Parts: sequence; structure tokens; C-alpha cells
Amino acid sequence: MKKKTVLVAGASGYLGRYVVTEFARRGYAVRALVRNPEKITTEGPNLEPPIADTAWEVVTGDATDPASLKNICRDVDLVFSCMGLTKPQDNVTSEDVDHQGNKALLDDALAHGVTKFIYVSVFNAHLMPEVDVVKAHELFVDDLKASGITYTVIRPTGYFSDMGMFLSMVRSGHMFLLGEGENKVNPIHGADLAKICVDAAESDNPEICAGGPDTYTFNETVNMAFEAIGKKPWITHIPIWIGDAALFVIGFVNKPLAGVLSFAVTVNKIDNVAPATGTNHLMDFYRELAKKTA
Ligand SMILES: NC(=O)c1ccc[n+]([C@@H]2O[C@H](COP(=O)([O-])OP(=O)(O)OC[C@H]3O[C@@H](n4cnc5c(N)ncnc54)[C@H](OP(=O)(O)O)[C@@H]3O)[C@@H](O)[C@H]2O)c1
Repeated sequence: MKKKTVLVAGASGYLGRYVVTEFARRGYAVRALVRNPEKITTEGPNLEPPIADTAWEVVTGDATDPASLKNICRDVDLVFSCMGLTKPQDNVTSEDVDHQGNKALLDDALAHGVTKFIYVSVFNAHLMPEVDVVKAHELFVDDLKASGITYTVIRPTGYFSDMGMFLSMVRSGHMFLLGEGENKVNPIHGADLAKICVDAAESDNPEICAGGPDTYTFNETVNMAFEAIGKKPWITHIPIWIGDAALFVIGFVNKPLAGVLSFAVTVNKIDNVAPATGTNHLMDFYRELAKKTA
């Protein structure tokens, strides 16, 4: 039987690499869409695997250049996209990448008769409708629903890669944390989330919310990062209003940067606990990352 072909957009990122690996493990032919093929030849900064030899085909394209995505879905059965703006890029907004870039992919998928589109948005989007990245995700979700294609929207909590940033911050011995740090999250490992994403290829479920197996307060996640590097925890809490004020000022000087940062500020105000899944634990991830980056 012919292998099914899946286009994975965002393949070079934290989640994308695990998704490429999981699709390939289950026998799919993976066409990986990246901007820079060199990047996927080595392990990523949060231990995500290299995928240059796992993908059946590597293609290049940029969400901000819809022409570069034309015919990218030729001979593809299924599209999976976690292509999104998570770090500031010069003069690029979430609307450009998360909404319009994915819309260009969707148009191409429809033109080539793709049977299913799986898209990664965020958990609790309804609590953060004004955050640029969330707004852009949800505008694309609306397009997806209106397109008539069979779809699944995955709504995850924070990834272990975000917690990986905490580990690099605590290396100085001191951590600034926005808010009281008592809000809760059940972060998820990329490999555990990838299984949910690939299961969605064979499921009729239009929406899946997913978090990791353990729930922590943000203070606990930071304390664990200190423990992993063998330092005594020292956290200074910054009032949320200072984060809001900083965002307001940055918005005048650099709107795209404020757009990306507003997500980080907003998730510090709410609990983010989604249905628990997976087997990977944050402390093990911290220990492994601490060892690798010592
Ligand atoms: N991180 C979290 O905690 C979290 C939680 C919930 C939902 N999400 C969502 O999940 C998705 C994946 O997150 P992640 O943490 O895996 O992000 P990531 O590591 O930053 O990966 C993002 C991917 O999108 C690609 N990309 C960015 N701009 C692009 C452009 N202009 N053209 C083509 N590709 C572009 C990146 O390519 P390059 O490698 O070339 O930059 C990368 O492959 C995002 O949409 C994010 O909003 C993340």
C-alpha cells in the first residue's frame, strides 16, 4: 500500500521536529517545510531531535512569501502545521505568519485536494482574545472551519521548551518572575504532544486540548530548574502591572516585539491546565538539559 504523505509546516521548531519524527515512525512519508535546511541537521536547543535524515523530503518556503508556498501541497494527503511566530522577527507579525502564512498553506492544500488539515493553536484562547498571537491563531482557525476541509485543531498548554528558557535564566543564580507565580500549568513534552498530533490524523475529533501529566505552579517550575542546576532558589517577583506597562511602552517603539511578548505576560495571569496526557516529566527534562548545557 502507498505510504500517506504529510506536509509538516514548522518542521524545524520544537514541536515540529517531534511531529516529523512521530509521523515517520508510524510509516508516513514526511515532507518537511523549513526556512533553513541547515538548522535541522543538528539537535535543537531544547533537545528536540535533528530531522534532516528522518524527513522523506525537505522543502523550503517562508510564510511571509506566499509565492514560496505555492504547490507545496502537490501529492500531499495531509497537512500538519505548527508554523508560527514565537520569537520576534524584524517587521514580521503574528498576523503575517500564524494567520496569512497558514492561510496560504490552506489555499494550496484545497487546490491540491488534501483530505485533512491539522493545526496547532493554543489552550485557553478564549481567555486571551486580544493577544496578537492568539488572535492570529484564531483567525486562521476560523478560516480553517469555513474552508470545508476536514480538520483538527490542537490546543496545547506550554511546552517543555518554554520551561527550558527558565533553566537558562536561573543559571545566573537569580530569576525574575512576572506575577506571584502561583498560577498553574501542566506543561507538555514535544514527544508526548507529537503523539496526540499524529493520532489526530486518524481521528474525527475537530478539537483536542492537551497538557502534560503533572501540574505545577510557575514558582514550582522555577524551583525545579534551580534544583536541576544545583543552586538555591532566588526568585524576585515583578508585579504584573509592570509587565503590562512595559508592553504598552514597547508597543510604541516596536509593535511586533510587543505582540510576541504580550503572550508571555498574559499566560502569567491565568491557570493553564489542560486534560493531562503523556509520560515525560519536567524534572527529567530539566536534568537532561542541565547536563547537556552545563
Ligand atoms: N511553545 C509553547 O509553549 C506553545 C504553547 C501552545 C501553542 N504553541 C504554538 O505551537 C506552535 C509551535 O510552537 P513551537 O514552540 O514549536 O515554536 P518554534 O520552536 O518557534 O517553531 C516555530 C516553527 O515555525 C517556523 N516559522 C516561523 N516563522 C516562519 C516563517 N516566516 N516562515 C516559515 N516558517 C516559519 C519556524 O521556523 P524557523 O525554525 O526557521 O524559525 C519553526 O519551524 C506555534 O504556533 C505556537 O504558537 C506553542
